[in-house]
Amino acid sequence: MLVAKDEITIRLMEDKVENYQLMAKWLSDERVLEFYEGRDNPFDLERIIEAYQPMVRGNDAVKPCFIYYQNITIGYLQYCLLDDLPEADKQTYCLEKTDNVYALDLFIGEPNFWNRGVGSKILTVAVNYIFEVFLANKVVIDPRVENTRAIRCYEKVGFVKVKLLPAHELHEGKYSDCWLMAIEGNKSLH
Ligand SMILES: CC(C)(COP(=O)(O)OP(=O)(O)OC[C@H]1O[C@@H](n2cnc3c(N)ncnc32)[C@H](O)[C@@H]1OP(=O)(O)O)[C@@H](O)C(=O)NCCC(=O)NCCS
Repeated sequence: MLVAKDEITIRLMEDKVENYQLMAKWLSDERVLEFYEGRDNPFDLERIIEAYQPMVRGNDAVKPCFIYYQNITIGYLQYCLLDDLPEADKQTYCLEKTDNVYALDLFIGEPNFWNRGVGSKILTVAVNYIFEVFLANKVVIDPRVENTRAIRCYEKVGFVKVKLLPAHELHEGKYSDCWLMAIEGNKSLH
């Protein structure tokens, strides 16, 4: 994915050590881990490479991207076509129809950029791109119920809660409930 709009650029991660180092910096920061991956699960460079290099090299359904805001690298976004996922992973979304449905996940790794409207801008750009270029029917996202800021951000963009996914995500030692949230392809975002 390559898109640049409204001060936001989203570009595929590259197979370079600097890219993995930045991910290791973000995913060892307790402030970020509290919401993404968990504070009991910090990543060092070796684990980042192990987890992300297969995706970066294109050997995975999940496409890993960096997010740039005003040319500063501030975070990470991944997307995938649900039908490209292994069957067991696809089923965790509990959707009856998955044709041309995309799933997204993201974090802003620089906490000083939180709560400034940047997350909603990123998602608007990403979702519009997925609708316009991939002609998606739907985009889904699955925040933990406790992550009220993320849910508020997604609702601002136009996602709606579709169903509760009980015990959907292991986070800090507990299986947490998540909301399946979706936005339909016929919505136009601004
Ligand atoms: C989730 C995330 C991407 C949202 O991006 P963002 O730039 O912070 O979001 P925005 O500023 O666009 O919107 C956040 C909204 O939530 C509100 N908010 C902030 N804290 C909140 C809280 N604890 N509960 C409910 N709403 C909250 C903000 O006021 C804002 O709403 P408003 O514009 O109506 O005032 C970003 O905060 C982030 O990366 N967080 C850490 C990782 C994470 O949670 N990732 C998501 C995994 S599903």
